Amino acid sequence: MIPFVDLKHIHQPLLKEFQNIQDTCLKNSDFVTGQLVNQFEEEFAAYCQSKYCIGVSSGTAALFLALKALNIQAGDEVIVPAHTFIATAMAVSQCGAKVIFADVDPDTWNLTWEKIESKITQNTKAIIVVHIYGNPVDISPICQESKKRNIFVIEDAAQAHGATYKGRKIGSLADLACFSFYPSKNLGALGEGGAITTQNEEWAHKILQLRDYGRSDKYKHEFIGYNLRLQALQAGFLSVKLPHLDHWNQERRRLISLYQEYLKDTPISFQVVLKNAQSVYHLGVIRCADRDKITQSFTKNNIGYGIHYPIACHQQTAYSIYNSLSLPIAESLSQQTISLPLYIGLKDEELRHITSILTTDLSLI
Ligand SMILES: Cc1ncc(COP(=O)(O)O)c(C=O)c1O
Repeated sequence: MIPFVDLKHIHQPLLKEFQNIQDTCLKNSDFVTGQLVNQFEEEFAAYCQSKYCIGVSSGTAALFLALKALNIQAGDEVIVPAHTFIATAMAVSQCGAKVIFADVDPDTWNLTWEKIESKITQNTKAIIVVHIYGNPVDISPICQESKKRNIFVIEDAAQAHGATYKGRKIGSLADLACFSFYPSKNLGALGEGGAITTQNEEWAHKILQLRDYGRSDKYKHEFIGYNLRLQALQAGFLSVKLPHLDHWNQERRRLISLYQEYLKDTPISFQVVLKNAQSVYHLGVIRCADRDKITQSFTKNNIGYGIHYPIACHQQTAYSIYNSLSLPIAESLSQQTISLPLYIGLKDEELRHITSILTTDLSLI
């Protein structure tokens, strides 16, 4: 049995350090925000080459609060890719704004300025670009063109911790960036967590208050806020894991290059990474016309896999008003992609076994 993902390999060597964090929390009775959260926020801001980092309760909360900080509300339109996890779109809907789905590039599977431009109206207030599977979006032209039009750009970096674009870290490239620390993410908590990074002091301050009931002092509340804070325990666990992130990302890149090497003479294709960018391969996604044959064979051979994502966002029931929209690339990706096992601890011989099933067994492809 080769699972789709297995977090034990990265957690096992860190158990003692996790235990120390738990002891610190218990000793200090410091459970929500506080010292461990401040420390992680500083470390993660520095890691992302960003001035500010605000820890929050999840990646979805990060997106919601980033939009709130920009005062996005009913009547506003926010452009998002149709090929993403649904949280990107739902955060916009939670603010009462209108989601505008755009198609993605057939090679990078990301938004491009060309795909965005035709969706802009006088109501467009923001664009959320998603570095899908850890692959950086070509964000410079998007930021340049958006600035001319007074449109904000938010990075959904939920899958891209540590990725780089033009030598800079993802999370420092647009107005605000949103991270998820869901356990299986490249940098994952041992529960829920998220963060926002920004260079802008005003927004950072606003988000600090928004995550905590609009609080300016213990019982002083300046505006309607929320309880979307990061737990101290999770921040502590994240501080333990952060120093290992670059090494883990490097190993993901090595595993992907092995997959690419072994599958190079097949009709299987991989996501294209820009020349001036480095992906962190949150997922090992391949594209193939006949996905069902592969999934059936994987099931028979006890190999785990994932599908990210089987229904394009605009085709979800939750977005039924958009179901008749035609966004062909996002739609075909939802039919043709499959995520291969990819995790720290996946052995080279296991990867070889997976690819040999793909290339020989059942003349799959
Ligand atoms: C692209 C993307 N955006 C947002 C989120 C939401 O993050 P969370 O699950 O921490 O709320 C995720 C999580 O899977 C994601 O992959």
